[in-house]
Amino acid sequence: MKTQHALFVFVSLFLGSCNTSELQQGQEITLQLPSQPYSYNLPVKDDLPTLGRVLFYDRQLSINNSISCSSCHKQELGFADNVRFSTGFAARLTSRNSLPIQNLNAVIGISWEKLIAPTFGTEGSLFWDGRERELNSMVLKPLINHVEMGVNDLQSFTKKITGIPYYEDLFTKAYGDGQVTKERVAEALSWFVRSIRSNQTKFDQHVKSVGGIFPFPKPNNPAPTPVPSAVLSPLEQEGWHLFFEKYNCNSCHQVQQPTGYSMFGGTFANIGLDKEYADNGLQSVSMQPQDAGKFKIPSLRNVTLTAPYMHDGRFATLDDVINHYKEGINDHPNLDQRLRNADGSPRRISITDNEKRAIISFLYTLTDPNMISDPKLSNPFKTN
Ligand code: HEC
Ligand code: HEC
Repeated sequence: MKTQHALFVFVSLFLGSCNTSELQQGQEITLQLPSQPYSYNLPVKDDLPTLGRVLFYDRQLSINNSISCSSCHKQELGFADNVRFSTGFAARLTSRNSLPIQNLNAVIGISWEKLIAPTFGTEGSLFWDGRERELNSMVLKPLINHVEMGVNDLQSFTKKITGIPYYEDLFTKAYGDGQVTKERVAEALSWFVRSIRSNQTKFDQHVKSVGGIFPFPKPNNPAPTPVPSAVLSPLEQEGWHLFFEKYNCNSCHQVQQPTGYSMFGGTFANIGLDKEYADNGLQSVSMQPQDAGKFKIPSLRNVTLTAPYMHDGRFATLDDVINHYKEGINDHPNLDQRLRNADGSPRRISITDNEKRAIISFLYTLTDPNMISDPKLSNPFKTN
């Protein structure tokens, strides 16, 4: 048993404009960390993700102390948000739907970035449009983003963090001295982000229970019938069939991959949400017309927690999402082949209400109750 010992920290701040969620001058903040750090099972010492965890949840990282990473990436929501667009430090909205954070350790790493990505292309991309590839540099982007956290000068930022009493101890434990640099902030944050893992869903138990034998559907090579599962209910198994076989959702959403997509299924796709997209996704990065309307294939892990859906949060429910695949696909020049009929027209499929229920119940097997309740990933601040 780990004993919790509380660090009581009294914060005195000079605040300009008033936002109800801002920390108020003289407000007391209690930071509660175990005396021995939790075990994060990473190739670095646990003090590093522990520091990252505090940074992730600390509203003092934003320019006016109103927003932390966790304002838009909430543990109980699979580290995503439950609104179409999230609110930043100055009450302005993000231009896209918040992405869940999980299993980024599986693709982002030195070996992956340096060895595999150059060979296979854009796998391991971050953000809806893949504009970042490396977690270490990516995690500073929300800080300096003028909508999200509003830090416009990283030098005064590190000075501010240096002045916050509890960081001296946390940086010293992680780095041997209390010096705060943006590189250290980035490194600690990215190790915390890497520690957010999901691998204990009902679906994972099913995969284990069938002994790792896992059909891998490919075009023209229909998957074998899955081994009857002792873990999945009959309705969930029916959903499995529809997802993997009948409707080929898995050709893009490779739920057996930690990241939810794979280099063999592609990283980005245009699914015909619009005839003309207001936000062209990958094209804004690559500048190529054939990338217009393509977005990263989102992981469906914890998808039951991350409504609303799509890059712009246009669909409120999973029912709406399935209706799109059923009868809503628009004819866009870049519409993915897998969503077209043989004659090239947008696919229309007659998913029945029962099938819809089965697919959704299968999607529920991708929810990870452990990740969303894991204390080592939780908010360490008990703000009064
Ligand atoms: C105001 C809301 C907001 C805040 C604050 C915020 N994020 Fe995000 N985050 C988003 C949105 C929106 C996206 C998707 C943006 C896009 O794809 O263009 C995103 C995407 C991400 C991703 C990409 C995930 C993936 O699979 O590609 C990571 C990682 C991430 N954020 C980490 C962080 C960290 C770390 C912080 C704190 C330093 C943070 N975010 C602060 C809203 C926010
Ligand atoms: C051609 C690849 C492809 C196929 C096939 C496909 N999807 Fe998707 N799916 C995507 C992409 C890309 C997005 C994000 C699109 C966007 O936001 O613009 C998405 C989004 C989703 C979302 C919303 C996730 C979120 O977090 O916002 C769900 C749920 C979903 N798909 C389920 C399914 C189901 C069920 C099927 C099978 C009936 C299916 N998909 C077939 C590529 C695909």
